[in-house]
Amino acid sequence: MLDRRIAVAPMMKYTDRFYRYFIRLIAPHAVLYTEMVVASALSYQDPQRWLAFHPSEHPVALQLGGCDPALLAKGAKLGEDFGYDEVNLNVGCPSERVASGRFGACLMQEPELVAACVHAMQSAVTIPITVKCRIGIDEYDAYTYLHGFIERVSHAGCKVFIIHARKAWLSGLNPKENRTIPPLQYEVVRQIKRDFPQLTIILNGGIITVAQVAAHLLDVDGVMMGRAAYSNPYLLAEIERQLFATNGIRSREEVVQLFLPYAQEQLDKKIKLGRLTRPILGLFHGQLGALRWRRYLSEHAHYAEAGIEVIQQALSLVG
Ligand SMILES: Cc1cc2nc3c(=O)[nH]c(=O)nc-3n(C[C@H](O)[C@H](O)[C@H](O)COP(=O)(O)O)c2cc1C
Repeated sequence: MLDRRIAVAPMMKYTDRFYRYFIRLIAPHAVLYTEMVVASALSYQDPQRWLAFHPSEHPVALQLGGCDPALLAKGAKLGEDFGYDEVNLNVGCPSERVASGRFGACLMQEPELVAACVHAMQSAVTIPITVKCRIGIDEYDAYTYLHGFIERVSHAGCKVFIIHARKAWLSGLNPKENRTIPPLQYEVVRQIKRDFPQLTIILNGGIITVAQVAAHLLDVDGVMMGRAAYSNPYLLAEIERQLFATNGIRSREEVVQLFLPYAQEQLDKKIKLGRLTRPILGLFHGQLGALRWRRYLSEHAHYAEAGIEVIQQALSLVG
């Protein structure tokens, strides 16, 4: 299993640098993805705001959204200069706002454009450019279509594909529905791996247990987890312990103790406590005291004067 990859999915408004710092305390090897950063935003806003991350986050990938090869190449170069280990192009996000900007999942209809974007990005950097996509969108949902898409984009220089194993309906379903209603079709992703053995294929969608991860890793090169890694972050520790025999996995309490000085540093930089406690709410998921932990943090972290003693107090209520 050691050559297999575990990744935490890009999630807008969730996988910010605070969450990623916290996850790294739990899972030493998981590849972490930023929220999607719109490539054009990097041209007219301070990139530091979007791209800054903590050195402990490595390996960490920057996810970009966009469809302009030149802007994406510029964004990828900035990402490389900031020290990211990978730049990922979002070809899977189905939100309307994104479709109107002609990026995200709607790009699956335009393999030539995606190929041009990947080529421009890969020519600008030495780190890998990867693509996150769906198995199809709307009427473009035949296996042969996906096969042709992967073939075209891989020829443009992408060697790693993260495939969310469900199609997206761009009209008719909202983004949330598009993450639940179209059925998961893992076999499609497995078939892509069989047809492109030279590519690295990461499977995404609906994975919530260690056993599921273990089963998928027999067929593909890695798995990416989104919602479960947020609601139950310690699952990643169990995956490392059980499947990768990682030594030195920290207990939940040790994770909290190590998070405290980081939280204090962030508070000193005027970050609000609520932004720091939100990612840690699920740490005790399934444990005795999980509700007390979550409730205490939720009720106390938003006060203007709230400091790390709120986290310490919540910890004392667990167990
Ligand atoms: C709140 C939320 C925000 C998301 N934002 C992004 C995003 O910015 N870029 C992206 O490629 N996918 C995004 N996704 C999709 C996830 O990366 C992932 O593909 C999806 O949740 C399926 O994986 P899961 O079943 O393990 O959660 C988002 C998902 C959620 C729940």
